[in-house]
Amino acid sequence: MAPPPRRRRHLLLPALLLAVSALWGAPPAAGAAESCKAWLVQSIPTDMPHLRRVPGVLATADVLQWLSGNTTESLDILAQYWQFIAHPKNPKSGEYGFSESDMAKFGAEEGRRVYNALEKAADRKVQIRIAQHAGFAPDFDQESANLAAGRPNVQNVTVLFEDWWGSGVLHAKVWISDKKDVYIGSANNDWKSLTQVKELGIYFVGCPQIAKTVEVYFQNLWTLSTLNSTTYTKIAWDKKWQTFRKVPCWSHFLQPEQRCRSPLPLSVDVPYVDGYPSLANPELLDVLIETPGLKRSSKEHHLSYLSFAPPELSFDKFQADEQGWVDTIKSVNSGGMVRISTMDWLGQSQYASETVFWPSLSSAISEINRNNLALS
Ligand SMILES: *[C@@H]1O[C@H](CO)[C@@H](O)[C@H](O)[C@H]1NC(C)=O
Ligand SMILES: *[C@@H]1O[C@H](CO)[C@@H](O)[C@H](O)[C@H]1NC(C)=O
Ligand SMILES: *[C@@H]1O[C@H](CO)[C@@H](O)[C@H](O)[C@H]1NC(C)=O
Repeated sequence: MAPPPRRRRHLLLPALLLAVSALWGAPPAAGAAESCKAWLVQSIPTDMPHLRRVPGVLATADVLQWLSGNTTESLDILAQYWQFIAHPKNPKSGEYGFSESDMAKFGAEEGRRVYNALEKAADRKVQIRIAQHAGFAPDFDQESANLAAGRPNVQNVTVLFEDWWGSGVLHAKVWISDKKDVYIGSANNDWKSLTQVKELGIYFVGCPQIAKTVEVYFQNLWTLSTLNSTTYTKIAWDKKWQTFRKVPCWSHFLQPEQRCRSPLPLSVDVPYVDGYPSLANPELLDVLIETPGLKRSSKEHHLSYLSFAPPELSFDKFQADEQGWVDTIKSVNSGGMVRISTMDWLGQSQYASETVFWPSLSSAISEINRNNLALS
């Protein structure tokens, strides 16, 4: 994630949307399963000769251009902030003072190419919906506003997590094209996330079932943007963090008699433990995933699941992000290897007014370590 200067992200409520896929192989089911393709997607800084792009893994800049270029009807985008176009002449910009040749060396043109592809999609009347955080200073929501200006087919809304959870940001980076092609990853909508920051994502092609599921999460955020947070929030006691905090009034952190009816569709009644859905058997997507980027392109039958955060935006029997991470760590076999790639590892809140401790990932690792697992 390319963090904007100074203010990065709020760890109290990691508003991540994370795809945990390919959990375990299963025998092919008769007929019903959807067949689609998936590639891993990477960004690697241009000036790192010792860190080469992994063969078979696509470049984020290409994937975002293709998504924009191929869309014929609808494109839904979740973004934290926007700066595809670099502004080296703007004293308020992070790249102020760099020369044109510096910017070329940094690969900044890739960002402009993505923006141009998006603008073309907007011009050919693709229905574009953008849900984003409010934009960091100085002008990190200007590009989405420019796309929307004078184009009724482009809608742009802001979702302020602070108004709903007292802290946090819309941190998911998701593109859903024509209800079938999807990018989910860590790359922000800025040029640095394409060529100057290490990012990882997944690109699904021809996957309507996955697109439809992620779309529900998108729609839930979209609905939040239409509601008055003052009327729809309450203060709850969070047992895990031992603190009072603001939550949507349908939150399971509230006692049943304090809760309002959720304005979000598709919320199903699953048991909750300490505010989180307690899912021993999360909903699994039955999708045949072809992986053409791998040497051994397999068309294996995998059961996979998607996980979402925060829990108040979750739906059906999909897993909460935190549990998804813990399950992924614990799914490693004895003697196996867990690889974790992360920007920060803190185990506590970083941007909240009150410090809360968050041990679940460290605990999961301690638990599997009894088997002498390699951790990288
Ligand atoms: C559409 O996507 C494919 C890859 O899936 C890509 O090769 C092609 O260039 C894209 N088309 C446009 C117009 O971006
Ligand atoms: C959406 O775009 C319009 C048109 O440019 C702009 O006036 C408005 O401020 C934008 N809204 C958000 C939430 O960014
Ligand atoms: C939201 O609701 C509060 C209290 O119910 C009210 O005071 C406020 O004006 C409302 N805000 C908007 C934007 O409607």
